[in-house]
Amino acid sequence: MNTTRLAVIGAGAIGRTHVDRILRAPNLELAGIADPTPAGEALARSVGAPWFADHLSLLDQARPQGAIVATPNATHVAVASDCLARGIPALVEKPIADTVADAKRLVDAVAAHKTPVLVGHHRRHNPINRRARELIDQGRLGRLVSAMVFAMFLKPDSYFDMAWRRQAGGGPVLINLIHDIDMLRFLVGEITSVQAVDSHAVRGFEVEDTAAAVLRFDNGALGTVVVSDTVASPWCWDFCAGEQGQYPRQEVQSHFIAGTHGSLSLPGLALWGYRGERQWHAEMTREQTMVHAADPYERQLQHFAAVIDGREAPLCSALDGLRTLQATLAVHEAAVSGQAVSCTLPG
Ligand SMILES: NC(=O)c1ccc[n+]([C@@H]2O[C@H](COP(=O)([O-])OP(=O)(O)OC[C@H]3O[C@@H](n4cnc5c(N)ncnc54)[C@H](O)[C@@H]3O)[C@@H](O)[C@H]2O)c1
Repeated sequence: MNTTRLAVIGAGAIGRTHVDRILRAPNLELAGIADPTPAGEALARSVGAPWFADHLSLLDQARPQGAIVATPNATHVAVASDCLARGIPALVEKPIADTVADAKRLVDAVAAHKTPVLVGHHRRHNPINRRARELIDQGRLGRLVSAMVFAMFLKPDSYFDMAWRRQAGGGPVLINLIHDIDMLRFLVGEITSVQAVDSHAVRGFEVEDTAAAVLRFDNGALGTVVVSDTVASPWCWDFCAGEQGQYPRQEVQSHFIAGTHGSLSLPGLALWGYRGERQWHAEMTREQTMVHAADPYERQLQHFAAVIDGREAPLCSALDGLRTLQATLAVHEAAVSGQAVSCTLPG
C-alpha cells in the first residue's frame, strides 16, 4: 500500500483531531507536527512524530507530501502560501482566511504554483451530504425553490472567557454558520445575495449571539438561515448529524431543501414527493435513504491523499473557500448596513 506523508501545522483542538485520524489510517503517515507551544511539542513526543517550533523548518526538513494548516484564521494564507511555494499541497482549515482579499491571494497562489489547496469544510465529506447532492443532481427534487436551515444551540458561559469570542468576528456567524453556508453552496447552488439582521440582546456582548439571513441563489432558489448560540435548542447539524461525540445526539432535522418535485430533510435523508397527481390534496410518498455512517474528517484526509496524488480534484477548492467566506461575511455586512449585499467575485 502506498503511504502519504502528512504534516500538521498547529496542534490545537482541530490539529489534534487531524493527528488522531492520520495515526488511525494505514495509508497515512505523520511526517511531523509544527506548533511553538510546549503542548505541541508534548503531543509530537507522545505520538513519536518529529516536532518543529515553526512551519518553515517542518516544511524544509520533514518534506511532507501534504500539510494540514490548523493554525488560527489570520495565519492561514501566509502558512498555506509557504506550503504552495514549496510545491506542497495544503489542507487549510476553515475559514480559508479572515478577509475575501486574503482568500483571493491564496486562490492566486494555487494558480501560480500549480499546487492544490483543499479547504476543510469537512461536512462535504459526510456521506449524508454526498447522497443529498446525488439526489439533487439526479433531479429528484425538481427545480430547487427553497432551503431552510437551523443552527441553534447553547454555548456555555465559560466559552466567552476568551476576549476575542466577545468581540466582532468571534461569534456564531463566522465560527458556526460558515459550515451551513458551505453546505448550502454544496447542495443548493451559488449564493448571489444576502440580507440579514442580527442581535446581541441576550448576552449583551459586542459580538452577535443570534442572526437571521435571507439568501438568494443563482438558480433562483431562496433560503433562510437562523443561527444562535444562546438558545436551549437541539436544532443544529452538530447535534443531529452525529459527526462529533462531544455533543449529545438528537433525533431531529436541521436542514430542509424543497423543490418543485420533492423535498429533502437532513441529516435524516427523507425525501418527500408525489407519485401521481402533484398537488397538496394528493397523497405524498416518503422515501428513506440509509447511508453508511462515516467520519467526515477521515474521509476528508483520504480525499486529501487523492488530491495530492492527482487522482481527485479538491471537493472544496480555494475558490470554494473564498465564496463561502464571502457569503458568510455578507451576513455581517448586510446586518450592519440593512441593505442586500451581493456576492460578486473579486477581480
Ligand atoms: N473543521 C472543523 O471542524 C474545525 C473545528 C475547529 C476549528 N477549526 C479551525 O481550525 C483552526 C484552528 O482552530 P483550533 O480550535 O484548533 O484553535 P486552537 O487555538 O485550539 O489551536 C491553534 C494552534 O495553532 C498553534 N499555532 C499558532 N500559530 C502557529 C504557527 N504560526 N505555526 C504553528 N502553530 C501555530 C497554536 O499554538 C495552537 O496550538 C481555526 O481556523 C478554526 O476555525 C475547524
